[in-house]
Amino acid sequence: RVYLSREKDFAGLKVLISAGPTREVIDPVRFFTNHSTGKMGFALAEAAAERGASVTLVAGPVSLTANHPNITRVDVTTAEEMYEAIHSHFKQSDLVIKSAAVADYRPKIRSNEKMKKQPGNLTIEMERTRDILKSLGEAKQNQFLVGFAAETSNALAYGREKLQKKNLDAIVINNVAEPGAGFGHDTNIATFISKELGEKNLPLSSKKMMAHDILNLIKRELPGDTK
Ligand code: CTP
Ligand code: CA
Repeated sequence: RVYLSREKDFAGLKVLISAGPTREVIDPVRFFTNHSTGKMGFALAEAAAERGASVTLVAGPVSLTANHPNITRVDVTTAEEMYEAIHSHFKQSDLVIKSAAVADYRPKIRSNEKMKKQPGNLTIEMERTRDILKSLGEAKQNQFLVGFAAETSNALAYGREKLQKKNLDAIVINNVAEPGAGFGHDTNIATFISKELGEKNLPLSSKKMMAHDILNLIKRELPGDTK
């Protein structure tokens, strides 16, 4: 499973990747977020860049650096900003990989002043964010669209459902409850599913190695590949 990075087998391809969490602001000092650190998305961006792709990496708030001249990084904070950034690059992309952990809800009211504590409980009303990936599935022309799914149970069943419902070409399913997989780790365990290749297990490996494995599977399905 050694990959020779001198092979520029993604040269000429425009790849759009989202990574990391989003932050949904409550007031000037507080926000809702999740445990995503962006490592899987950054590994994918670096792997694609090393293989010659021209990569746009839309990143939520993470403490990582993207180390490759082929990577153009766009930093965003909220799900809404990620939606705008992704859509502004979508048309001209050949391959889109949405590994970001986008917030499903945001506070309905964003306070301009710091909220002061009061006696008793606090209820914050939340509203849905837009589903970026689903909107890409609807807008898709020739782009190869890859989603991610983070699950704690019934991972494969939920993943298959997301592949269908969001009109994806492939999905990478993470069972975040498994040791060695998911948020913050340098390793991952996942399953790749596409209509053409079926289900492929991606065994425990570094996120960088897994990124190359994911690209190898995607490559077999891109137009023009000899398989
Ligand atoms: N996603 C997105 N925009 C959202 C929510 C999710 O683009 N507002 C994308 C993620 O980037 C990921 C995929 O959808 O590629 C699946 O995310 P996940 O949270 O696993 O699924 P959801 O569709 O949000 O369903 P749920 O959280 O209820 O399992
Ligand atoms: Ca979600």
